[in-house]
This record gives sequence, structure tokens and C-alpha cells, in this order.
Amino acid sequence: MHGFSYKSGSLHCEEVDLKTLAASYGTPLYVYSGGTITDHFRRLDEALSGVPHEIAYAVKANSNLSVLRLLAAQGAGFDIVSGGELFRVLKAGGDPAHCTFAGVGKTRAEIIYALNEGIYSFNVESEEELRYLNQVAGELGLIAPAAVRVNPNVDAKTHKYISTGKSENKFGVDFEAIVDLYERASKELPHIRLRGLQMHIGSQLTSIAPFIEAVEKVTPLVRLLKQRHGIEFWSIGGGIGIVYHNSLESGAAGWWQQREGSDAPLTIERYGKELVPRLKDLGLKILLEPGRYIVGNAGVLLTRCLYEKKGLAKTFKIVDAGMNDLIRPALYEGHHEIVPLTEPVSSERVMVDVVGPICESGDFFCQDRELSDFQPGECVALMSAGAYGFAMASNYNSRPLPAEVLVEGATARIIRHRQDFDSLIEGES
Ligand code: LLP
Repeated sequence: MHGFSYKSGSLHCEEVDLKTLAASYGTPLYVYSGGTITDHFRRLDEALSGVPHEIAYAVKANSNLSVLRLLAAQGAGFDIVSGGELFRVLKAGGDPAHCTFAGVGKTRAEIIYALNEGIYSFNVESEEELRYLNQVAGELGLIAPAAVRVNPNVDAKTHKYISTGKSENKFGVDFEAIVDLYERASKELPHIRLRGLQMHIGSQLTSIAPFIEAVEKVTPLVRLLKQRHGIEFWSIGGGIGIVYHNSLESGAAGWWQQREGSDAPLTIERYGKELVPRLKDLGLKILLEPGRYIVGNAGVLLTRCLYEKKGLAKTFKIVDAGMNDLIRPALYEGHHEIVPLTEPVSSERVMVDVVGPICESGDFFCQDRELSDFQPGECVALMSAGAYGFAMASNYNSRPLPAEVLVEGATARIIRHRQDFDSLIEGES
């Protein structure tokens, strides 16, 4: 489910009219539905109920403190990729003992910070990193809990920039090298406690097949590591895809329902039904690292149309959000539905490009798309922008970062103020 629908002709987030939010807080504006975030968390938790598990929310998808706090209250753990993300999780009241630390390039300062905070596991991506972790932990007189990320060489069949589980990707250690690495580590690295195994094959997977393939391929390895090294957990990563096309309509009907011919063949119930039987007899705690699934359809980016420009070849709707606010279309050819805040009365469509104000041809939200018409002064919502939206926003073109609002029922709360010009130049001289 997601919390966005037309009520009395106006697009609402839960019980709040988005037009009033755009008027109060200005645009571009990110708006999140708290109810959707907690619903998605619970739905996944429920789907995995047949196996001992823990959901470590991938903070990188949306790291706003209020979003983290909401998830911490649901009992989420957190998958972090930097010292900054650990700092955010701690500020939001998250428990470091339920944090895993991923990433191929952890620095000394980050390792020390995470060791001192007592995180659950360092998810290590190379032998060199494991040896360095051992060295730093030794210097501090600590034992570092660790899991190696296995690269299972499985094709996730997603956009090439977010596919991570093939041998040619920079991530993890080759499947064939894992057993020897655990043997060597257990003999040579006294400050490492091998606690688990981790994998993550990619993001925005819309089919169950690659998940099954990876789980089936890695299961014998996991059994062996449990037997020889007493590992206690297996993280099967994140990557569960969401619906981007027609997300408003499908949300009203329940987007998790299987829909033939759409980009939604993967339902969360199916994910649980296929994976739980394959995982439940391993005697291991299964960790999940979902980001997009939890927050993706829980957020929209509101933007106001500034101008309409009719050229010889095209009609451009120029809006006040740019690729610095939402980079997914430019970077991954990401599709976001664009819907007016006032419910269209006719089914008439116009063929337009919706573009931002930035000096780049890649600064567009759609090209040659048929949309319900909207005029300068009117606002539209870019749907499904809750994951990797604000989190990837930048100050390019010296544009202040947008504001963020969290809606819970009939209450809307600003959870990040719009950046002002002074903070834009903070730290510069
Ligand atoms: N675990 C690891 C180790 C990851 O690298 C990622 C995402 C996740 C979990 C969470 O994946 P999710 O459940 O959100 O698919 N910016 C891109 C997505 C990059 C994903 C990076 N890693 C986008 O906007 O599509």
C-alpha cells in the first residue's frame, strides 16, 4: 500500500492535502507517508515470520532522522555505509548492536568509530579490508565482529549501475575464494570474530528468480561456514524492487498485488513464500537490508511549474525541481510518474518533456511523455521518490537542498527545513 490518493479532487498524503503543504513549505518539497513506511516494514517482517530474521534498513535510501526514528521504533536494525550514517542512526535512537556496516572502502576513522560503538557486524568486501580491520581492532584491544560479502556471480537483471552481484562488479569476494578466506582468517586474524556471511546482488529487482538463484547457490557455502566457523547469521541483502509505473493507480488497488505485464511481478508475499522455505532449516539468523522497498513508494517530490515553453520540436514544462533534487531519471533512466495535485477531470493528455532549471540536457524528469496537462503556477507530484531521492540530492548550481515533511494521519511535520543561502556557503572562505 501507499498513502497517496485523490480525495475530493485533491492529491492527499494520508489525510493531508498536498496543496496545503506546497503552499506552507514551498517547493521543491519532499513529502513522506509515515503510515506507508511502517506498513512496509511490518509487511516484510510478516512475510519473513517463518524464519528467525532481522530487518536492517538500508539507511542510504533515506537517512532523515525522523524516518530512522520511525523505523527504530518498529524494531528495525540498520545497514550503514559510512561513519555519517552511523552518526545519524545513533542520533535517531538506533541501537548500534543492531547495525551492520557495508561498503568497499571503510576508512580507519570509520572503523574505529564503529568498533567503539559496538556494531553488530562489519560486512567486509576484501581480504585486505579484513586484515586491516583485524589490525585496527588489535590496536584498540577489541575483537571486530565480521562477515564477508560473497559475490555469487548471479545476474540481478537490473540497471547496470545498480547491479552488484556479478564477478565484474567491484563488490564482495568471489564465491570460489570464500572458504579459503574463512580458513585463513580463523587461523591468522585473532582480532576478528567471523560472525556471518553477507550478500547483495543488486537493487530494484523485479523478479524473484535472481534471489532464488543466489540463495540456492550460496546455501551449501553457508552450511559449511556454520559447521566450520560457527557463523550465526546470513544477510541476504536488500534489492526488493518497487512499482514505479502507474504507482498512483496501483497504490490505490494495492501495489503489492501481482500484475501481469507490469514492472511488479515481485510481491513481498511471493518473496517470503519462495525464500522462507529455503532458509528456515539453516539454523541461522537471516538478515535483510531493504531500503527502497521500505521508503520508495512512501515519498513524493512536489514541484511547481514555472513556465511552459513551446518549441518547434517539443513542449517543455519547466518546473522548480531539478536533477540536483532527484537525480534518478538522469542517472539510471529512472521512471517517476508525474501527476497533478488537482485531480484531472478529463482523460486528455499532452505530450511534454518535464524539465528542471539546471544547465544540463540531462536535467529532465520525463521526455516525450503523455501527461494530464498542467499550467505554470500549478504543482505536480513526482511519485515514488522516497528512496534515493533526497538522499542523493546535491547543491549543484548552488541550489539549496529542498525541505522534507513527514505525514502521519492528519498531522504534517517539517522534518528538515529548506536549506538557506548562509548554510549553502558554510565552511567556505
Ligand atoms: N545492501 C547493500 C549492501 C546495498 O549496497 C544496498 C543498495 C542495499 C542493501 C539496499 O538496496 P535496496 O533494497 O534499496 O534496493 N541509487 C540507486 C540505488 C543504489 C543502491 C545501492 N545499494 C537508485 O536510485 O536506484
